[in-house]
Amino acid sequence: MVKNSLKIITIFMLLAVGTVADEFHGGGDILCSDCHTTHYSQSGTLPERAEPGGPFSDLLLIESADRLCLTCHDGTDPAAPDVLAPVAMYQGSGSEFSGGGFFSAAEGLISITGHDLGVITQVPYSNPVKATILSCISCHDPHGTINYRNLVIDPDSSGTGVTVGLGSDVFEEIHQQIPPSRNASIGAYRAGNIGYRARMTEWCADCHNILGQTDPANPPAHFNRHPSLASFEPSDYHNDPGHWAVGIGEGFGVATGDGIEGIPRLRFQAPGATDYTSATTPAASNQVFCGTCHFAHGGPFKSSILWPFNDQVSADLYSGCQQCHYK
Ligand code: HEC
Ligand code: HEC
Ligand code: HEC
Ligand code: HEC
Ligand code: HEC
Ligand code: HEC
Repeated sequence: MVKNSLKIITIFMLLAVGTVADEFHGGGDILCSDCHTTHYSQSGTLPERAEPGGPFSDLLLIESADRLCLTCHDGTDPAAPDVLAPVAMYQGSGSEFSGGGFFSAAEGLISITGHDLGVITQVPYSNPVKATILSCISCHDPHGTINYRNLVIDPDSSGTGVTVGLGSDVFEEIHQQIPPSRNASIGAYRAGNIGYRARMTEWCADCHNILGQTDPANPPAHFNRHPSLASFEPSDYHNDPGHWAVGIGEGFGVATGDGIEGIPRLRFQAPGATDYTSATTPAASNQVFCGTCHFAHGGPFKSSILWPFNDQVSADLYSGCQQCHYK
């Protein structure tokens, strides 16, 4: 209880001095009653949105954090970005998906197309090998952080943090609105509203720490695993910066899975970016990063990849690779 009181004081101090970045559920936009109930009773009945069987620890409305978050983020709250399949909210927005993509399975179920929630699993590419149970709050702090999207500072809890600053490492063209509305949320969270400069790979590699290093290999090959944070410079026979910059022809197309070869331009990091425009301008200095090939939550395709890389009959099988390599 002493710990909880201190926590409340800390949260209010953060609110008062405004040190938490202006992401929803943090800073000035935190609404305790979205997630907590003080006495687990409203005129003798269950409080709105509370689950039976309580009261629960941490005074939460729903016993598990995942199910709590998904009461709004499953598509039923029109203003909350939907992160659980099927997701229709980004259709017609100019982007096929949100920045994070979506989970395909509810808590407790394994999925091959994204991160699993509430399942004990090993972290792939971790050394030493770690087992963990992933939940929304493994990656997002429910009370906000200084990071973009309230990402936790230290996902693997090792004591070494990674900051991903909105306005410095990641840029948005438009920011979400308070109070939230459906149209504003679609505009703010669609993938095309976001440009990347740096730090997101380091954040993923806090858990997948083997992929933080780009393994060198014997010449003429350079790497044993696909590099992240590599750019087209210096240009060599491995990649095709001209094809990438122009963005027309093999690899590039209007929609993923429309039966015609080509997918929308993949995401990239722009190391010198200072704003949304410079972070989304194709150039030889662009870097490939985890988000080029993977969604953070998951998506329609195996291993959270942005295009059907493992689907032998899809016209888009090689499209992602061809955008940069054009072989
Ligand atoms: C988006 C949902 C959400 C909102 C909004 C929210 N909380 Fe929480 N809170 C949680 C979750 C989930 C936990 C459990 C954290 C855990 O298990 O690590 C929690 C835990 C706590 C705890 C327990 C201490 C701890 O170590 O985390 C306190 C105290 C607390 N919240 C206070 C508040 C206050 C005060 C507010 C409003 C200023 C607030 N919360 C707003 C979701 C929320
Ligand atoms: C009561 C409904 C509700 C609950 C419960 C809820 N959210 Fe949200 N959340 C929202 C809404 C609405 C938005 C969009 C706000 C906007 O765009 O202005 C949002 C936005 C977010 C964002 C984006 C923040 C930003 O500004 O970039 C994250 C991340 C997030 N929620 C995570 C969570 C997590 C994790 C939980 C559970 C601990 C949770 N939410 C529980 C309604 C909810
Ligand atoms: C493995 C880490 C991870 C887990 C687990 C996770 N998120 Fe995310 N989430 C992210 C990252 C990273 C982003 C930002 C992606 C981007 O814009 O590049 C994000 C983005 C979001 C957004 C902004 C909208 C979008 O789709 O981009 C919301 C809302 C959100 N997450 C809510 C949730 C909720 C609710 C859960 C649990 C059901 C959850 N997240 C679980 C890492 C995670
Ligand atoms: C150039 C595209 C590309 C980049 C960049 C990339 N990956 Fe992958 N990743 C893939 C593909 C394709 C697979 C599917 C399996 C395979 O072919 O190795 C995969 C598989 C995975 C897997 C699943 C392994 C398993 O055992 O199921 C994880 C975890 C992963 N990647 C994490 C990352 C992280 C973290 C980063 C950034 C450090 C990253 N990847 C960067 C393309 C990429
Ligand atoms: C908190 C630790 C943690 C963080 C942070 C994290 N992951 Fe994972 N990741 C896991 C675990 C655990 C698994 C294995 C179980 C599963 O599939 O969820 C996994 C699995 C994966 C897979 C294989 C999933 C599949 O579809 O079969 C990919 C791809 C992946 N992660 C990519 C990423 C990327 C990209 C990021 C950064 C946006 C990231 N991870 C951040 C813990 C993490
Ligand atoms: C956003 C651009 C981009 C995408 C998409 C991309 N790559 Fe790469 N790839 C690069 C860059 C940049 C390098 C580093 C080039 C270099 O210095 O050799 C690289 C290196 C490689 C190498 C290593 C060559 C060597 O030097 O050892 C191979 C093989 C490769 N990519 C295959 C793939 C495959 C397969 C895919 C699709 C799953 C893919 N790439 C997607 C940009 C990309």
